[in-house]
Amino acid sequence: MAVDLLLGLQWGDEGKGKIVDVLTQNYNLISRFQGGPNAGHTLIFDGYKHVLHTIPSGIFHKDAVNVVGNGVVIDPVIFNKEIENLSQFDIDFKNVLLISRKAHLILPTHRLLDAASEKAKGKDKIGSTLKGIGPTYMDKTGRNGMRVGDLELENWKEIFETLTQKHINMLDFYNVELEYDLDALREEFFASVAELRKLTFIDSEEYLHQAIKNNKTILAEGAQGSLLDVDFGTYPFVTSSNTTAAGACTGLGIAPNQIGEVYGIFKAYTTRVGSGPFPTELFDEDGATMAKVGHEFGATTGRARRCGWLDMVALKYACQVNGVTQLNMMKADVLSGFKTLKVCTAYEYKGEVIEHFPYNIEPENVKPIYTEIPGWQEDLTGMTSEDQLPQALLDYIDFIEKGTGIKITIVSVGPDRKQTIER
Ligand code: GDP
Ligand code: IMO
Ligand code: MG
Repeated sequence: MAVDLLLGLQWGDEGKGKIVDVLTQNYNLISRFQGGPNAGHTLIFDGYKHVLHTIPSGIFHKDAVNVVGNGVVIDPVIFNKEIENLSQFDIDFKNVLLISRKAHLILPTHRLLDAASEKAKGKDKIGSTLKGIGPTYMDKTGRNGMRVGDLELENWKEIFETLTQKHINMLDFYNVELEYDLDALREEFFASVAELRKLTFIDSEEYLHQAIKNNKTILAEGAQGSLLDVDFGTYPFVTSSNTTAAGACTGLGIAPNQIGEVYGIFKAYTTRVGSGPFPTELFDEDGATMAKVGHEFGATTGRARRCGWLDMVALKYACQVNGVTQLNMMKADVLSGFKTLKVCTAYEYKGEVIEHFPYNIEPENVKPIYTEIPGWQEDLTGMTSEDQLPQALLDYIDFIEKGTGIKITIVSVGPDRKQTIER
């Protein structure tokens, strides 16, 4: 069977966790292919709310196997806490949560380097989640990293100490004030590694090839969003991995011709957390309403998310880069009550009108050009089928489908698993 992908098309937090959970009933295997604990994927069902950071969002389905792929970066300390938080669920982690030996490890000093780098940047900081993502991927591409498979070597503590010492030297280079207790951090890391080693480490690319050969259904779960991709996002205000479809190939060892459906997920408006340009950002009552009704606070850091209108220029770009075959529109319920909605359909870029996503979208270069669309007033949160949806929402959907040329197959009308309308 082909491998299907689910990817965020904006700046993350589109609702990937919710939809992966909904779709898992159709899949044998769910696998994360990039990112790490910078992600926060929220799942709500049966009155419970869970935020997953590194564990794939298929973990609540008894029959699904969850794979953490080679492209992911794992912090054993955070991973352990995630597992502890799931203790009430009677999950057979050893058999349903498999970890790639080739995944890289986030060391405590990676987190410190992240903090030091941000501090040194001052007002130009990325707004990183401070989980050590950037420094860990730097060590990976710099060929200095430590991998999960290293934990099976007798001298893994030596590998750890050598890398840690290198980081301490780098921290001196940053010359910023940072308080830390290395012994305590080391102790916590070692204790967490002992727990991590109780799980199953695999050669995940081989495991997935066998699964494909045996006709298992596989869904790859993206983290972050396309506009945070290290190549195609709003660089340098991005994360350090390829969040787009190509990242699933390198992050799992899947060939491009093995990719099937590409689910592109987006909010009916736009949010962004952290620094960086955001052409349709709102600083008025409308933005405040989206933030309030949508509870727009980061699932990992608790930071307020910036809010704005839907940006179709960016959305079309993300669809292209990923080869999206189906769209999923989230949080339509949050837009109930707006008299008029605005959708950005072009940019004024250095005095010209353009419809593509240019090199630079800083406010001094780009001004959004909007199309106005009538809003809907109805509360959508109790609706369960397409025929209940108000005409104005169907027109909004139609507008996006025409603009992107891609069908919206899921409309989400609330955070719960059940508040999902398939079309
Ligand atoms: P992810 O990182 O893409 O998995 O998304 P997050 O979990 O970070 O953020 C999405 C937020 O929106 C979470 O709080 C979800 O519970 C919530 N959510 C998801 N879908 C909907 C929806 O259709 N309506 C509303 N109101 N909330 C939603
Ligand atoms: P999910 O998977 C939203 C943002 C950070 C920061 C930038 C770099 O929940 O959608 P990093 O810690 O990766 O070095 O931060 O990327 N960011 C996210 N924003 N959702 C996420 O993940 C994010 N992961 C990172 O806020 O601007
Ligand atoms: Mg999130």
